[in-house]
Amino acid sequence: MVEYSIALIGFMGSGKSSVAKALSHSLRLNVLDTDVLIEEKMKTSISEIFEKYGEEKFREVEKEVVENIKNEKNSIISCGGGVCLNPQNIVNIRENKLVVLLDASDGVILERLKEDSSRPILKSNLNIETIEKIKAQRKESYHKAADLIVDTDNKTVLEIADEIIIRIMKGHSNEN
Ligand code: S3P
Repeated sequence: MVEYSIALIGFMGSGKSSVAKALSHSLRLNVLDTDVLIEEKMKTSISEIFEKYGEEKFREVEKEVVENIKNEKNSIISCGGGVCLNPQNIVNIRENKLVVLLDASDGVILERLKEDSSRPILKSNLNIETIEKIKAQRKESYHKAADLIVDTDNKTVLEIADEIIIRIMKGHSNEN
């Protein structure tokens, strides 16, 4: 049993949900997903929340959800791609948690998301230029929040999960 949780952050399509499941299986920890918690709280889908109430409301609820789980121990927490946009969220996700940034190149993200219309942020703009632009805007926040950065390109979900576990055991260094 670990005395802290592992939070996964990173851009949409970086594999947070799948890696969270793999880690939860290997480490026998439960998974919390901020998007799922938001949907449960609002009793509707992320797309509907954006459509009906707008992004501002979504970010408000996201902040509440992150605040509510800040003391969560022994869990794998998969964070929505925009969680790090709010500095208070960064403080809260770093509370008792090891924060792992899943990185992926723009082309890989596009490939993973191209058949997926569930991301309101990219809905009308799913192309490499938009991914590049939003990722660049968020890079600093992601890096500020992360204890560990894992490149996910050309790796399977299990390889990524194993790499995270090994690097945590080695003392979560960002060096390869
Ligand atoms: C968002 C990412 C999504 C979800 C919402 C907004 C973002 O989560 O929270 O659509 O701003 O990057 P995933 O990163 O799990 O797709």
